[in-house]
Amino acid sequence: MSSRYRVEYHLKSHRKDEFIDWVKGLLASPFVLHAVSHEGDYNDDLATTQRVRSQYADIFKDIEGLIKDKIEFDSRNMSQDEIEDGASSQSLNILGQSRLNLLVPSIGTFFTELPLEQAFLWEDSQRAISARRMVAPSFNDIRHILNTAQIFHFKKQENLHNGKVLRLVTFDGDVTLYEDGGSLVYTNPVIPYILKLLRCGINVGIVTAAGYDEAGTYENRLKGLIVALHDSTDIPVSQKQNLTRMGGESSYLFRYYEDPEEDNFGFRQIDKEEWLLPRMKAWSLEDVEKTLDFAERTLNRLRKRLNLPSEISIIRKVRAVGIVPGERYDEASKRQVPVKLDREQLEEIVLTLQNTLESFAPSRRIQFSCFDGGSDVWCDIGGKDLGVRSLQQFYNPESPIQPSETLHVGDQFAPVGSANDFKARLAGCTLWIASPQETVNYLHRLLETD
Ligand code: IMP
Ligand code: MG
Repeated sequence: MSSRYRVEYHLKSHRKDEFIDWVKGLLASPFVLHAVSHEGDYNDDLATTQRVRSQYADIFKDIEGLIKDKIEFDSRNMSQDEIEDGASSQSLNILGQSRLNLLVPSIGTFFTELPLEQAFLWEDSQRAISARRMVAPSFNDIRHILNTAQIFHFKKQENLHNGKVLRLVTFDGDVTLYEDGGSLVYTNPVIPYILKLLRCGINVGIVTAAGYDEAGTYENRLKGLIVALHDSTDIPVSQKQNLTRMGGESSYLFRYYEDPEEDNFGFRQIDKEEWLLPRMKAWSLEDVEKTLDFAERTLNRLRKRLNLPSEISIIRKVRAVGIVPGERYDEASKRQVPVKLDREQLEEIVLTLQNTLESFAPSRRIQFSCFDGGSDVWCDIGGKDLGVRSLQQFYNPESPIQPSETLHVGDQFAPVGSANDFKARLAGCTLWIASPQETVNYLHRLLETD
């Protein structure tokens, strides 16, 4: 990949997070103006690092204040439903906008305050951001600082360990808990942390796009976890069954069960009547079918137009349609080799799918999620916001779990239209991770006792 391509690629708006870019822009000034020291002068170098650190910290303190103001502004000017629906105060022109909305028009809802200055100082102590002279604070630095601030928020609160402040943690599957397309095997280091959450009385949901309407496939992919949970004699069964799996974004709900008499355990499907949100019940089957038919036609059209190899196939499910890579026999190596989609092809497909469905009347009456899974593209009925919200209701219908008491961990947070964890931001606080190892690291910090 030439550097020119790389530069242009990063300019693509659908890959950008406007808030993170804006923070990056603010930090660029102290970097450009002050992150300079005289080569070889140790004292000067140290003084420069300290000066730059304090300037970065001041910026984070100011952003922290803007977020606090926005939370207060939104709670004064928006109804609870609007806040929970993620309506931005941008839509409330008559009432004005919070300052943060004016500065970053696409900003979403913040459900909790974020101790950003403290988080920056902690990340700086690990990543030496302010000691760098050639590389300005990056997208990744800021992603980590935002995550750390969210962790500090939950840790700061008393009662983290009895499921009162943090009542629900949801995880995406692929890339978050296991490698893309992988399974949760017994030795996966995330398992002890998931058990610890359940032991603390915190509900755990795995909210994934992978959609199957029978328990077996999920049991196989999560085998290591359910065996470990079954073996944990120090967690009461009433708490063990607080593990759920929401499949197909928001289409199929399963709950862990144990039947000691039969020596049986695994996932049991929960009847839709018990957990579907009223707005989902209102979707007509006809609109769902028409949306998937239309998406399938669009994928077929794209397959022709982009001249994709015949091994690339289109899969139609009850609640989803996707285009997936294939395999072909290679004469030279005498074995099956993968036939993949290029990055550009994946992006062309997902953006076309999203755009065409947005202007198709039946799809507008329901909700759907189009995303690029890294090697495939899917259109699913529903979304992770609805998946997380359904769980918030399901665990406690009398006193539903609030977005401020919910944490979703996922890898797909690029703006809507090409990523599916993005929508979970409408329903709770989030951690944006880039690998299963990062998930483990954050859980370790969340659950470690100081
Ligand atoms: P997630 O990261 O757990 O949300 O899973 C996303 C991946 O699940 C996709 O990239 C697909 O490879 C896979 N997958 C399997 N079945 C489905 C489906 O019905 N809809 C969407 N993705 C699916
Ligand atoms: Mg994922």
